[in-house]
Amino acid sequence: MDIILKNATVADEDAPEGLVDIAIEGERIVAVEANIGAEAGEVIDCEGRLVSASLIDPHVHLDAALSVAAARPNQTGTLLEGIAIWSEFMPKLTKEDIKHRARQAIDWEVAQGVGFIRTHVDSCDERMIGLEAMLEVKDEVKDRADIQIVAFPQNCICSFPNGEALLRRALDMGADVVGGIPHNETTRDAGVASMRLVFAEADERGLLVDVHCDETDDSASRFAEVMAEETIKRGLGSRITASHCVAMHSYENAYALKLIGWLQRAGLNVIANPFDNLILQAREDTYPKRRGITRVKELLQAGVNVSFGHDSIMDPWYPLGRGDMLETASLGLHACQMSGVAEIDSCFDMISWRAAKTLSLEDYGVRPGANADLVVFDGYSKAEVLRLGPARTHVFKRGKLVAQTEPARSEVMGDPVSFRPAT
Ligand code: FE2
Repeated sequence: MDIILKNATVADEDAPEGLVDIAIEGERIVAVEANIGAEAGEVIDCEGRLVSASLIDPHVHLDAALSVAAARPNQTGTLLEGIAIWSEFMPKLTKEDIKHRARQAIDWEVAQGVGFIRTHVDSCDERMIGLEAMLEVKDEVKDRADIQIVAFPQNCICSFPNGEALLRRALDMGADVVGGIPHNETTRDAGVASMRLVFAEADERGLLVDVHCDETDDSASRFAEVMAEETIKRGLGSRITASHCVAMHSYENAYALKLIGWLQRAGLNVIANPFDNLILQAREDTYPKRRGITRVKELLQAGVNVSFGHDSIMDPWYPLGRGDMLETASLGLHACQMSGVAEIDSCFDMISWRAAKTLSLEDYGVRPGANADLVVFDGYSKAEVLRLGPARTHVFKRGKLVAQTEPARSEVMGDPVSFRPAT
């Protein structure tokens, strides 16, 4: 064996009970069982700490990440001003600038245990420098993170000059996933037409789909139903993802329940983005003020696969954030009132194995035969790591250590009460 992680508490879809050892040979996990006696080049005693497969950020915008200081400040903090700032800022962007910021954001995420990232890249740009930059970055960071690139038509497909051709060009260049934004198209008809085009392109090219869907407080915005219909008609199932779906928080219950049933039958995935959803939605409300995040708890209860994304990291839409998926899941937990014992654990699942299903990842998990993409937390359970956001002490990619962090230690002077958190 090359590495053995001893005495680990495993987090996974089907995690073993009790403490186990995880043996790694080359790029793969070869054994997950108690008391592995084999010799190994390196032995790390986890002393009961939590070990999971890499965390996943299934929805982020790396071409815009960390641009907040360079772009015009968003005075209102709204989604629409964010889009306007981005449109003004885009012509000034250079490929090197995008690459530098994206690599910084990726390294922030890797240091905090992320091994897989799906990034949307604005494809409404005749220069296509965002996509060129991200394709290069994808290759440059492949030793520590796997990147999926979504061709994201920020300014629409049907309602933007040359929008259809630009989307196809982005796909020709090598994007992995077809994006869309139907609620921003001029009319309902244009939104539906854009979805037909997105699904046809994905189906023909064998690509995945991830659409910014109904990212609006408008309860008349109903494109998730179109996505469900296209998914069923084409039999694409889990290859399809509807991101945001925040209008669902404003649908009347009768329609929301009917829709959730169709989303479940379609087998598509939903991604909620707590930072951006909470900060950007319901801006026109006085009080009561809507939460602005989709019905995560109800979707999960109905059997729909849901995951959480970071979405923005210091960009014109959200000026804060540090690329920590535990912080993302914790915020989602609070916003969706998921404080039941099993619900807390499921919030961790939404940044790990549930997000892996969304990204259609193979060889993911803590099991023999899976890739050794692993993270060791300085915490002992899913609930504890969500509560504390502790150091990710060891981060492995394909069996190689790609990041490590020493836990911070505090000392209280005087006569402190000795305190060990309950696990
Ligand atoms: Fe987004």
